[in-house]
Amino acid sequence: MLLAFADESPLAHALAREMDCELAFVETHRFPDGEIKLRLPPTLPPRVVVLRGLQQPNDRLVQLLLAGRTARELGARHLTLASPYLAYMRQDMAFQPGEAVSQRIVVGFLGSLFDRVITIDPHLHRIASLDEVMPGAQGAALTAAPLLGAWIASQWPADSLPLLVGPDEEADQWVRAAGERTGLKGLVCRKTRRGDRDVTVELPAQDITGRDVVIIDDVASTGNTIVQAAAALRERGVASIDVAVVHALFGGDAIERLMQAGVRHVWSTDAVPHSSNVVTVAPLLARAIADCD
Ligand code: R5P
Repeated sequence: MLLAFADESPLAHALAREMDCELAFVETHRFPDGEIKLRLPPTLPPRVVVLRGLQQPNDRLVQLLLAGRTARELGARHLTLASPYLAYMRQDMAFQPGEAVSQRIVVGFLGSLFDRVITIDPHLHRIASLDEVMPGAQGAALTAAPLLGAWIASQWPADSLPLLVGPDEEADQWVRAAGERTGLKGLVCRKTRRGDRDVTVELPAQDITGRDVVIIDDVASTGNTIVQAAAALRERGVASIDVAVVHALFGGDAIERLMQAGVRHVWSTDAVPHSSNVVTVAPLLARAIADCD
């Protein structure tokens, strides 16, 4: 059985179709003081997959605590969490003495609730796999970059493909993965982050005048990384700028600021529900769920 939440209903239906399994929704209620109440189907089969992305993570972590423990009480013996977007991954070390290493703590917490955690393009910068921070549970980190690569390549004639631009060194992996089967070529910028909303992006010395470019990244949150990359690209005289991200968090007026920065289209996967979704991750998730079974 796939257990999902109403605000992720399109992906839930697509995933249940791919898995060819029963789909049930968790009923949620928020009390006036902010507490959350959940209601699951009263009887569960032995194998249950819970679909919950961790955008707006704080409430959802509590939902997973309640849902995971309750699912076991209701009969689930083997519990998989399919979390297309895993939050708290960027704080992967104590950058200042005394800071909580949120990645280790949050992933460890999920591993204590679920037997398996499957996610897409988590921010694994300083560790090689989820298992390193999830003792006792099985982790699978998938990538949706090839799906974005295929989408991007389908938007241009094969003899005039755009140039992929990774806005920072970490984006090199998505540039490469998107280019693997499509022949898309790319370059990677250098990013300096001074604060949550204060970043600068420097392009490498390479003539890109007149090129169509697509900025590709794992996640866009404030959108500032992309805005700065777009500004640098405009200065170099590119012909067009489009954006492709796996996780379209896009808080506040991020999309408007991207458009003002000269971005033409924003494309994303449905790992996070957003108006820019053009590519579904349902088959990718379903295959991973079946592979681990
Ligand atoms: C960081 O390493 C990520 O890959 C993204 O570049 C970053 O999280 C984007 O954040 P924002 O949209 O707030 O600049």
